Amino acid sequence: MEVIIKKDYDGVCTESAAIIEEAWRRNSNLVLGFGTGKTPLGLYEKLVEFYRQGKIDFSTVTAFNLDEYVGLEESHPQSFAYYMDHHLFRHVNIRKENIFRLNGRPADIGEHCRAYERKIQDTGGIDIQILGIGKNGHIAFNEPGSSLSSRTRLKVLTPETVAANRPFFQDEKEVPRFCLTMGIGTIIETKMALLLASGNNKAGVIARAVEGPLTASVPASALQLHARARFIVDEAAASGLTNRDYYRWAYENKGRAVDPLKIISPKTRN
Ligand code: PGA
Repeated sequence: MEVIIKKDYDGVCTESAAIIEEAWRRNSNLVLGFGTGKTPLGLYEKLVEFYRQGKIDFSTVTAFNLDEYVGLEESHPQSFAYYMDHHLFRHVNIRKENIFRLNGRPADIGEHCRAYERKIQDTGGIDIQILGIGKNGHIAFNEPGSSLSSRTRLKVLTPETVAANRPFFQDEKEVPRFCLTMGIGTIIETKMALLLASGNNKAGVIARAVEGPLTASVPASALQLHARARFIVDEAAASGLTNRDYYRWAYENKGRAVDPLKIISPKTRN
């Protein structure tokens, strides 16, 4: 695991966009997994900017959405399909046939989820998965208690999530009670996971996910098992981390380790 601490939210988005751009330069057939929520919005803005500047061409990029509410049409403004389209896809030259989403109204939920897993495998796996984190430690819609080896499946939303969503729906009958989500096992198998977090209200959960025990009660702690997980957080979200000085120091010196002579004299702590 790597913990990258940036001064503020803009720094978090700049760093994650740079990681994606660099990965795209190495492999233009990049397979990206996209999460929703408030946190990745700044990253998506930067990706649109990169596209307009000619730094990333999305025509060979493949996208997988992380989750979806059950019952909503793709065109519903609260659907995750709409969110991704609105904030990223419609602004770049990604091909429609390269966008894979969980359908909130599938004929057969179990088969739809299994087919999604197969599709991920068929593309060779997700190169970079973008994640937020819930205050309760969830990643995607894997709420506390989710199996650490879970796959894409139906989940029952917590009463808190249902209540939080209510204001966004005019009709009570439309408020989602269920969702489809990639599982924790699915996420752990991605080649790289970028978890973004910003603000004091995420400090407690970031500390539990990074430095607490591995537990289904904090689903994000499962990233401790991920071969290449990067937590990209701002100072406020990092404020509960006991080892934050070491993470900063390791990050600053990482590039220097390429030259073995420089390992002898790492940058001094300040
Ligand atoms: P947020 O949501 O970015 O809106 O805080 C994160 C999440 O719940 O995954």
